[in-house]
Amino acid sequence: QDVAQRAFTGGLPSKTRVNEVLAEAHARYAPHNDGVVADYIPILAEADPSMFGLSLVGVNGHTHQVGDAEIAFSIQSISKAFVFALVCEAIGHNAVHDRVGVNNTGLPFNSVMALELHDGSPMNPMVNAGAIATTAMMPATSGEERWQLIRNGLSRFAGRELMLDGEVYRSESLTNQRNHAIAKLLDSYDRLDANAEDTVDVYTRQCALAVTAQDLAVMGATLADGGVNPITGEQVVSAEVSRDTLAVLASCGMYERSGEWLFEIGLPAKSGVAGGIVAISPGKGALGTYSPPLDEAGNSVRGQRACAYLSRALGLNLF
Ligand code: DON
Repeated sequence: QDVAQRAFTGGLPSKTRVNEVLAEAHARYAPHNDGVVADYIPILAEADPSMFGLSLVGVNGHTHQVGDAEIAFSIQSISKAFVFALVCEAIGHNAVHDRVGVNNTGLPFNSVMALELHDGSPMNPMVNAGAIATTAMMPATSGEERWQLIRNGLSRFAGRELMLDGEVYRSESLTNQRNHAIAKLLDSYDRLDANAEDTVDVYTRQCALAVTAQDLAVMGATLADGGVNPITGEQVVSAEVSRDTLAVLASCGMYERSGEWLFEIGLPAKSGVAGGIVAISPGKGALGTYSPPLDEAGNSVRGQRACAYLSRALGLNLF
């Protein structure tokens, strides 16, 4: 069965073949050195640009990895996808849809103009404004409780207890005036359900959770598996919430590049400025990639190339 056909009939190639293809992708893109490591969060500028890890976890629980797949980095914006799922699970599809929205802004992830252009609507939960609004919607009586619920929820997606990278948290906390401005602006439009400063603090913590490419693949595979973590067997969110999350990732996960990404790679995905990407193939599994140098939209360059190669070679593309 050729890969194009497999894209429609389901199933990953054999374990051996997946390992071979992952190794091919790693060897092919390891020499590429385009892109620039993020530096607007000072500590991220210290990342080693040569780090390159790939992981794939199938809904059958098989795990595959090559390169720096066990190196820890901060999850950053990839947290937005899983917090969105947890909040949908807690308060329902309609509440999130009405309050945050699900359309692409067509503008950068930290755009203030996008908010002003749409009467203060954050537009979608994958840009900073929408993610901050979504974090504020997590039912809790304090910022601390909200943070623990988020950390616990993301840990269930990963199948292990995720820890805060304190250095990343402190570095971003000292330089995140823009996110504070976005939260205040949301508040001024009456679109924030919790205290602005507390919410930015929780959001900054969720972005500073340390993960590996392997963790991202397990987290993504949980969404690919209708909300069931294929390693632990735990139902983390419902199948309906997994579908809602994948739909938003398809339209907004790669920011203003989401259309191009879907056209070329054909998978719901989410990137983070520390260099991670998770790309999900529903019913099959998920890729987790790590490579710090980014393009101008804030997406890992080698991660995108590796996902494009793997999507084709493994028949992961949805279409
Ligand atoms: O809020 C921020 O700017 C960062 N904590 C996360 C941004 C991010 O990861 C954008 N992604 N590519």
